[in-house]
Amino acid sequence: MIELTYYGHSAFLLSNGDQNILFDPWFSGNPLASIAASELPKIDAILVSHGHADHLGDAVEISKQHRVAIIAPFELAMFCQRRGAQVFPMNHGGRATFDFGTVRMTRAIHSSAYVDKGAEYTGNPCGFVVDTGGKTLYYAGDTALFSDMKLIGERDDIDIALVPIGDVFTMGAEDAGVAVDLLNADFAVPMHYATFEVLDQTPQKFVDEMASRAAEAVVIEIGKSHRFD
Ligand code: NI
Ligand code: MN
Repeated sequence: MIELTYYGHSAFLLSNGDQNILFDPWFSGNPLASIAASELPKIDAILVSHGHADHLGDAVEISKQHRVAIIAPFELAMFCQRRGAQVFPMNHGGRATFDFGTVRMTRAIHSSAYVDKGAEYTGNPCGFVVDTGGKTLYYAGDTALFSDMKLIGERDDIDIALVPIGDVFTMGAEDAGVAVDLLNADFAVPMHYATFEVLDQTPQKFVDEMASRAAEAVVIEIGKSHRFD
């Protein structure tokens, strides 16, 4: 059993009933965030897909507060370590074992830098395949559609795929539907929409897109949880 809680944009909490794994924890400045980072339950790991502020978010502060590692691409992990976070660096194709299960880092077609007044290089963007609570979850991060998603789905039997659908900066709804087919996932959870004016404002296009596909679309309302038995 796993339970997914959505905080808006690409921020999720994955619970296996015992441990809590946080994805792309953007709370401060996130217009959709349902809670503040200080209201989070006990966190056991933080996974960050790339260095853009809408994904790195409050990761460093949460790492310090909960004394847990940020699992991220090598250069981004070093960026976080320089700011006082605990880190566990990985790179594409690698798998690592943690108390809660395993994490494999996958590629993503996107960019990655911390853009402030200047831009600081934070390596390559990534996705994650997480095995925990008897389920296998693929978190795509920010990415375009790419054909190697088929290989990701062949190497790991994916139950739940979290895919960006907002278009402009990532896949849109139609490409996300193709992605879920390639991944051969059973359930598809949309993310990365409605946050910015240029993004799609609802998941409806994705829900329509999934109607003719094998996987079931599961739209999690912001602030709500969904349990996968
Ligand atoms: Ni991004
Ligand atoms: Mn983004």
